[in-house]
Amino acid sequence: MEMKCDLDCQSVRQILKQHGQMHLLDFYDGLDEDKRTQLLHQIRQLDFSVMSEWIEKYVRRDVALSVPETLNPAPFYPAAGQASKQDRYQEAVKYGSNLLAAGKVAGFVVAGGQGTRLGFEGPKGDFPVSPIRSKTLFRLFAETILAAGRKYGTTPAWYVMTSPLNHEATVELFESNDYYGLARSDVFLFQQGTNPNFSFDGKILLADKGTLSTSPDGHGGSLKALYRSGAIEDMKKRGVEYISYWQIDNPLIHIFDPLFIGLHAMDGAEMSSKALIKAHPTEKVGNFCLVDGRVTVIEYSDLSDEQASRRNPDGSLVFELGSIAIHIINRTFVEKLNAQGFALPIHRAVKKIPHIDEAGNLVEPRKPNGVKLETFIFDALPLAERSIILETLRQEEFAPVKNATGDDSPEVTRRMMIERAANWIEAAGVKVPRKEDGSPDCTLEIAPSFALTKEDLAGRLDERLPVINPGVIVYLE
Ligand code: UD1
Repeated sequence: MEMKCDLDCQSVRQILKQHGQMHLLDFYDGLDEDKRTQLLHQIRQLDFSVMSEWIEKYVRRDVALSVPETLNPAPFYPAAGQASKQDRYQEAVKYGSNLLAAGKVAGFVVAGGQGTRLGFEGPKGDFPVSPIRSKTLFRLFAETILAAGRKYGTTPAWYVMTSPLNHEATVELFESNDYYGLARSDVFLFQQGTNPNFSFDGKILLADKGTLSTSPDGHGGSLKALYRSGAIEDMKKRGVEYISYWQIDNPLIHIFDPLFIGLHAMDGAEMSSKALIKAHPTEKVGNFCLVDGRVTVIEYSDLSDEQASRRNPDGSLVFELGSIAIHIINRTFVEKLNAQGFALPIHRAVKKIPHIDEAGNLVEPRKPNGVKLETFIFDALPLAERSIILETLRQEEFAPVKNATGDDSPEVTRRMMIERAANWIEAAGVKVPRKEDGSPDCTLEIAPSFALTKEDLAGRLDERLPVINPGVIVYLE
């Protein structure tokens, strides 16, 4: 059937024909004016110069990402408190604290993901996670930012990346919660980009008759989105030089860690990472390696079991450092990458993708039927001229909420929040009742406004020494 096509549509048609994607206009004739304009606009946004290569390389074929032949373990700074480098660490804490006081550090959380595994409707930042007050992730982070403002004398700006999947809902949350007590002008919400979804034969899928099926382009997309959205320009105006990056799912994160910021800045690094010692060789976290002298993360799925299990003579794992997606990124590094033009490696994910078929019927596939393409933030590490790694401790800084049950579930996260609170309280000299298995026999929650660190807490408990009896609920605020 010959389609009724105006000039605008004809030029799009030409491009689609050239790239074997003509089916995207199969239902064009039946669309109303607005839908037609929207569809043509969406197609025009596609960058066909890269798309053809993606389809050949990552959609039609499943080419395993090549893991470099020579992988070495990456050097790192051991966790604070266990280190022989106390002088250097003290100097770094001072340096980092000064940067925080001078307003040179901003917070940046990536919150554009779908959170499908958790089975929670709506933005994950709205997930209630704290053990007593059921504070949401967004609220805990906002309270942490406010507390850092009081501690260092300058409230850091907060950049929040969403995606088209949850942007409106996230804005509504911030509005209805009065920006969780932060000044509205100190919160910058922006959306990441998307990529089209493909069937295995390289055709772009349609979500409905007038809309392409798309997915967020991965947290690697944040490096472009920060720039495109004006967030980087906003940072420049505020005098922000360092971006503290974290993922929405981890309530234990120390967003503004002067030691990490200080070591990164004093070493002249462009992008740095926190890491922890893996719980077991094949734990599902990225592995820090050194490739051609550059810090590189190799995903758990790409490192062979043999490599992942290799041990040093002292029994420790050769590749012992796992990535927990906590980074300091220089604002100028993001500017440099965008000014030069850069492309992170593409990762292919095989998924069940709802779409409409040739007859225009909605298909909800029961098994994987297509491919989503993403880039990952840690793939920018080898592009940095210099990059440091600081070890952190799991019980202190990593308890992500990812799954509804089992590992990384809300239950585990809450338990770890209580455990960290117990450790801090005990370090301050107060006895915490424990059960036979060693876990705290009480429910504890420390508000960020009360203490951001173990050291803060020790200072505060001098004023107010609580007695903690078995089974009690203690909320420190
Ligand atoms: C990720 C890391 C893994 C690391 C682990 C630590 C990858 C591929 N792997 O795994 O190395 O050990 O976290 O918790 O990242 N997001 C966006 N936009 C997107 C996709 C994701 O903003 O397009 C955000 C999510 O909202 C979330 C974060 O990125 O905050 C992580 O995404 P997720 O897909 O949950 O990564 P993991 O597989 O858990």
